[in-house]
Amino acid sequence: MKESDLTTEPIGQNLIKLISNVCFSVFVFTVLIFTVIAVTYQPPDPWLESAPALTKLLTQTENATFKIDGSMLKTGEDIASSPVSPPANSTQVTEATIEKSEEKIGNMTVMKSSTDCDDDLKIVNCSDPRVLVAVERFNLKVFKSIVFLDYETPVNGSKPDECDVSWRFRNKKEKSWRRYRDFRRFKFGFGENCTYKVFHTSGWHSGVNARRPRVRPSSARGARGGGGGGGDPEINDTIATLGSQSNFRRGKYLYYSRGGDYCKGMNQYMWSFLCGLGEAMYLNRTFVMDLSLCLSASYSSKGKDEEGKDFRYYFDFEHLKETASIVEEGEFLRDWKKWNRSHKRKVPVRKVKTHRVSPLQLSKDKSTIIWRQFDSPEPENYWYRVCEGQASKYVERPWHALWKSKRLMNIVSEISGKMDWDFDAVHVVRGEKAQNKKLWPHLDADTWPDAILNKLKGIVQVWRNLYIATNEPFYNYFDKLRSQYKVHLLDDYSYLWGNKSEWYNETSLLNNGKPVEFDGYMRVAVDTEVFYRGKTRVETFYNLTTDCKDGINTC
Ligand SMILES: *[C@@H]1O[C@H](CO)[C@@H](O)[C@H](O)[C@H]1NC(C)=O
Ligand SMILES: *[C@@H]1O[C@H](CO)[C@@H](O)[C@H](O)[C@H]1NC(C)=O
Ligand SMILES: *[C@@H]1O[C@H](CO)[C@@H](O)[C@H](O)[C@H]1NC(C)=O
Ligand SMILES: *[C@@H]1O[C@H](CO)[C@@H](O)[C@H](O)[C@H]1NC(C)=O
Ligand SMILES: *[C@@H]1O[C@H](CO)[C@@H](O)[C@H](O)[C@H]1NC(C)=O
Ligand SMILES: *[C@@H]1O[C@H](CO)[C@@H](O)[C@H](O)[C@H]1NC(C)=O
Ligand SMILES: *[C@@H]1O[C@H](CO)[C@@H](O)[C@H](O)[C@H]1NC(C)=O
Ligand SMILES: *[C@@H]1O[C@H](CO)[C@@H](O)[C@H](O)[C@H]1NC(C)=O
Ligand SMILES: *[C@@H]1O[C@H](CO)[C@@H](O)[C@H](O)[C@H]1NC(C)=O
Ligand SMILES: *[C@@H]1O[C@H](CO)[C@@H](O)[C@H](O)[C@H]1NC(C)=O
Ligand SMILES: *[C@@H]1O[C@H](CO)[C@@H](O)[C@H](O)[C@H]1NC(C)=O
Ligand SMILES: *[C@@H]1O[C@H](CO)[C@@H](O)[C@H](O)[C@H]1NC(C)=O
Repeated sequence: MKESDLTTEPIGQNLIKLISNVCFSVFVFTVLIFTVIAVTYQPPDPWLESAPALTKLLTQTENATFKIDGSMLKTGEDIASSPVSPPANSTQVTEATIEKSEEKIGNMTVMKSSTDCDDDLKIVNCSDPRVLVAVERFNLKVFKSIVFLDYETPVNGSKPDECDVSWRFRNKKEKSWRRYRDFRRFKFGFGENCTYKVFHTSGWHSGVNARRPRVRPSSARGARGGGGGGGDPEINDTIATLGSQSNFRRGKYLYYSRGGDYCKGMNQYMWSFLCGLGEAMYLNRTFVMDLSLCLSASYSSKGKDEEGKDFRYYFDFEHLKETASIVEEGEFLRDWKKWNRSHKRKVPVRKVKTHRVSPLQLSKDKSTIIWRQFDSPEPENYWYRVCEGQASKYVERPWHALWKSKRLMNIVSEISGKMDWDFDAVHVVRGEKAQNKKLWPHLDADTWPDAILNKLKGIVQVWRNLYIATNEPFYNYFDKLRSQYKVHLLDDYSYLWGNKSEWYNETSLLNNGKPVEFDGYMRVAVDTEVFYRGKTRVETFYNLTTDCKDGINTC
């Protein structure tokens, strides 16, 4: 007995020594790795530019809420460094592809001799492939900011020398691969040797004969449906179900309960939502998401928080589905409940009560569901706090997953398309900031119509189209600028969300047939995107005024 004790003891001690040595090495190695990551890692956050200011704001204000500029809203499609690659199928129409199709035509048709081209033989045949070639050339030359994707065969216009042509395109300023449709009416004449020449083109969406026949909305689509017919046939943002029960048990979920972010501004929503989604991606888990948002009073025309807004009014759910592993909360809870009813064994759940439990600590957890609960008082219950501190070094916010709603982007395309993408833009921040002389002492005076007019002289040529993105509610405020520019304001396009619009039809379908108000956040989203499409862009901060974006002494 004694002997064996004597022999085992040193082995045990050695083992402990060995283990602690290994542990220490692992610890040192981990620290080293984190240090390397911390030094090299640059989070792709759109607010990175003002990160110090942001941190200051977040740490100094008692409530730790977002006070940052909410009159512009960048999402993933604005901040990618290069366009997201398009689906394999969409080919771009370039000079090279045009030449190729010309060659093909040349081989197909017997060349006419020039004497054949008498005046009475000059008829415009819209199905003639050379008509399309003429249109493709014309578009390429005129609309430099547009990437033309696929064209459809031209059809007759309203007169014999007209054809209506439809195509899909992308704006080079948008870093997503999403496609938009335009159809225009072209008037043709003949050049030398009977070649077709575009004489004139009518504006955006003028080629109504080439417009695709609409798919009638099916009756089965309600709040859970959405997408498909009715309007843009390319939108499919239906809510997927989890499928069979065994799928549910096999899944791994990260579930965030509603926290203090609910009903805060949209910037905070994005900042928090992307933290949760980022954690889910880090943990290789499916994120359980609540599609029902609360619109903060600051964006609401009613002046109070509005619950029950659909995520899909604002963001591209289809893209999110394709980019991240998510499940809608209602579907998730339904399946969980079903499981509870039909199985004795409970699904393993790890409840996490505080944001202080870091994603790293959860990475080894095998529970089917990790349920983060945010029950503490503000500001302890903000989702984004999970990503603070060390976690920010290894949890990345997946900005690329969050794009603006295609339905809103269709409005953006329509507004900029109406101006043939040939406009300059100015962003004028007024509202609360202009009234707060303590934080923004010069803003009010610097955004006075005369001051803007003065500033724009020399930057924007007279009689250019000028789009003004602004939170100034008084429509006539900018009338003075009309003496020099063709002024365009968002409200000039209110028919795009009025009760006869495609947008109105499509959003009501998401809302059980009830109309959806075009709210302040949608206005900001559209204003932002139209602004980005301007050729010359004049910002309020750094261009119109020397005041800082986030208040005095923050820049
Ligand atoms: C914190 O938020 C509450 C409610 O939104 C507000 O009443 C309070 O004044 C805020 N405190 C600070 C310091 O901003
Ligand atoms: C798109 O891809 C599908 C299958 O990958 C193919 O059948 C179809 O012809 C393609 N369309 C075009 C326009 O290339
Ligand atoms: C057209 O014909 C030329 C020679 O006749 C040939 O080299 C070329 O490949 C043909 N092009 C197409 C697209 O058929
Ligand atoms: C128009 O062009 C198409 C294709 O080249 C041809 O099939 C058709 O016969 C032409 N129609 C007329 C009226 O010339
Ligand atoms: C288009 O117009 C031509 C004459 O201008 C006519 O011959 C042809 O039938 C029309 N095509 C269609 C599809 O209406
Ligand atoms: C027109 O045809 C003639 C003879 O075929 C040719 O020499 C001339 O280059 C052609 N012009 C154009 C603009 O294609
Ligand atoms: C929409 O997408 C879902 C997958 O998210 C798919 O199951 C469904 O068939 C699609 N609907 C249409 C009309 O394409
Ligand atoms: C997530 O999956 C990736 C690739 O399969 C793996 O490298 C990583 O360690 C996983 N992360 C966690 C926290 O399990
Ligand atoms: C399923 O049962 C567990 C344990 O009783 C419970 O915590 C959970 O809330 C139940 N889930 C649902 C969706 O009712
Ligand atoms: C659409 O709006 C106009 C004016 O806002 C109103 O007069 C009209 O009744 C509305 N039509 C429907 C179908 O709601
Ligand atoms: C909107 O829906 C109504 C009724 O379903 C339909 O008459 C109208 O043409 C639709 N408008 C648009 C722009 O799609
Ligand atoms: C606005 O200010 C930025 C930063 O100072 C500058 O780079 C940009 O050229 C200015 N834009 C115009 C139109 O003056």
